[in-house]
Amino acid sequence: MSLPPGIHVIHDAIALPAPHDTVRARAVHRAEYPVVFADSVEEAVKHLRTVVPDQRIALVTDDTVAALHGRELREELHRQGVETTVTTIAPGEASKTLRTAERLLDWLAGSRMRRRDVLVAFGGGVVIDTAGWVASAYMRGMPYVNLPTTLLAGVDAALGGKVAVDHPQAKNLIGAFHQPTAVIAATPWLSTLPARHVRAGLAEAVKKGVIASPALFELIERDLPEILALEPSTLRRLVHGAATVKCALIDRDPYEEDLRRPLNFGHTIGHAVETVTGYGPVLHGEAVAFGMACAARISLGRGWMTGTASTRLLTVLRRAGLPCDRAQLPAPADPGAVLAALEKIRLIRDGRLRFVLPTDIGTSAITDDVTDDEIRQALSWSPDPDPDPRTARRNTAP
Ligand SMILES: NC(=O)c1ccc[n+]([C@@H]2O[C@H](COP(=O)([O-])OP(=O)(O)OC[C@H]3O[C@@H](n4cnc5c(N)ncnc54)[C@H](O)[C@@H]3O)[C@@H](O)[C@H]2O)c1
Ligand SMILES: [Zn+2]
Repeated sequence: MSLPPGIHVIHDAIALPAPHDTVRARAVHRAEYPVVFADSVEEAVKHLRTVVPDQRIALVTDDTVAALHGRELREELHRQGVETTVTTIAPGEASKTLRTAERLLDWLAGSRMRRRDVLVAFGGGVVIDTAGWVASAYMRGMPYVNLPTTLLAGVDAALGGKVAVDHPQAKNLIGAFHQPTAVIAATPWLSTLPARHVRAGLAEAVKKGVIASPALFELIERDLPEILALEPSTLRRLVHGAATVKCALIDRDPYEEDLRRPLNFGHTIGHAVETVTGYGPVLHGEAVAFGMACAARISLGRGWMTGTASTRLLTVLRRAGLPCDRAQLPAPADPGAVLAALEKIRLIRDGRLRFVLPTDIGTSAITDDVTDDEIRQALSWSPDPDPDPRTARRNTAP
């Protein structure tokens, strides 16, 4: 047999096992991708060019980000010779739906994107989750790159490849694991973020410090005023530090096979608060902050966490303007309703309600034996109006 030069025969001789032996299929996939931090849009696009040297780009963003930063990014992409088509979605959680995803899929199909071309998600967690899910589905998976523009996306949503849209029955119900090709954060994009969203994103960074990194927690304690003032070099260190911690944690269990995840700190009560307030009035980060405060009080009440550590956590949350008690939540969350929502979660999860309880700054324990009483007490705690220790009896937690 003679074949033209460059054409090779693929030789295989797969043996057949006995007919009753179980056939085993294996598909191990581990991805590795860079997470980089740029100080300018020009630098960000240069990074993008290194991971997407000659493919076309389909850029998805939301109307707010498009209005604030879209033009500069498009001009820079054009200047650096990247062929780009752009579409926008309406801002906010209400856009994270199958309907939006379907529109994006139609758009991709209409723009004749090929399987190796690249989807770029330019925005907060909503754009990143929706575009990422679309990327996971289009042609059974096309590459995508995240350009996070919110603090929450930079320290959390852009990393880990968990992509999803919401369903009326539950948030993030329709999703997949689809890892990005790269994550490129640029500090200029964060400069326009409203203060409330800065605080909400910060809550997810505080969480990572408490569960896994005293160094990150100390950075936040020390540099909080600069962070809240959006000082670029401090923000860069914060995003870099929090991303480092998240990447180290997901490296141990990238596909969440273990349900006992320290990254869920603050999320048990946090999710219940989001559910009872109807997803929106209380931002995710605000709900997580309140959830962390409650978990710290439960842990303190059990004697698992030291008073010093719990005071440090609650002080940082308060200084950041994040809700630590129910009265500070932007929308009312009735303790009975929160307990009922937790009960629903317990039923879905085989009768177990997992709590991550911090034990110190940098250490935590995971348990499923937190009682309704402990939860009720933590939910109902409020700062004592009477600071006189002789009359203050109930509120002993910080
Ligand atoms: N995939 C994950 O692992 C993961 C992790 C955490 C959160 N999430 C998801 O992320 C979403 C929340 O993300 P988010 O808080 O970024 O919300 P978001 O994407 O809705 O952004 C918040 C608001 O800020 C605006 N915005 C974005 N960038 C801006 C900028 N630079 N300047 C001014 N305004 C800007 C947006 O238009 C929006 O109105 C939720 O849907 C949540 O489920 C996903
Ligand atoms: Zn979260």
